[in-house]
Amino acid sequence: MSILISYPEAAPESILASIGTRVRNVIDEFMASLPEANRLTSAERRGMIARYTAVLEGNFIYWMTATYMAVKSAKARPILLENLHEEVRDAHPAMLRRFAIAAHAFPTDTDALAIDEDLTEVRLFFGRLSGVQSVVTMAFFEGFIQKFMAYLASLAAAQGSSEMEYTDVHGVCDIEHTEGLFRALALEMDANPPNEDQDPFEGIYLLRALIEKIVFNRAQAVAA
Ligand SMILES: [Fe+2]
Repeated sequence: MSILISYPEAAPESILASIGTRVRNVIDEFMASLPEANRLTSAERRGMIARYTAVLEGNFIYWMTATYMAVKSAKARPILLENLHEEVRDAHPAMLRRFAIAAHAFPTDTDALAIDEDLTEVRLFFGRLSGVQSVVTMAFFEGFIQKFMAYLASLAAAQGSSEMEYTDVHGVCDIEHTEGLFRALALEMDANPPNEDQDPFEGIYLLRALIEKIVFNRAQAVAA
């Protein structure tokens, strides 16, 4: 599904509000679709944690950096840089790796290859360096991560782990990060509005497909 917004005809505030509403709705719809953690097998829980780790450990900072490179607003850039600063200073990838290892869910080659196709789509999307589209996608990503943390922690706890620094930190700090990204979005829309033929939600749909792969690991549909 694609929603195209005609930029010149709408006031910036109403565009921002509609993007914010859409982002929240996609996150809420996804959260409502999650299977109950206590009805999963141990192998299913392990797989979810492993695929989440295979995507997030090496790509979150990469995609936030791509977004930083894509934005043209001088005022939006410090917001993204502050986010990157925290990721690097506090070594969030190391925190996630500890979380996965403690839950006996460090990704195998099978886990990494399961998400490969959808991951590549998202990498190619960020490679286009489209400012507004990238910031919208990262706002969705931060918002999703923050909402997903309690569920991810429950999967790890059911696997016998008590190493929860990653989920504790991200359930809190990403609220602030999501708000910061919406401020960056307003600034970037002002400085560098997207073309009329660019769907602002394109990256969200690609990232949602990747997240669905992390959680459900459904086989790819084969074209007839
Ligand atoms: Fe982080």
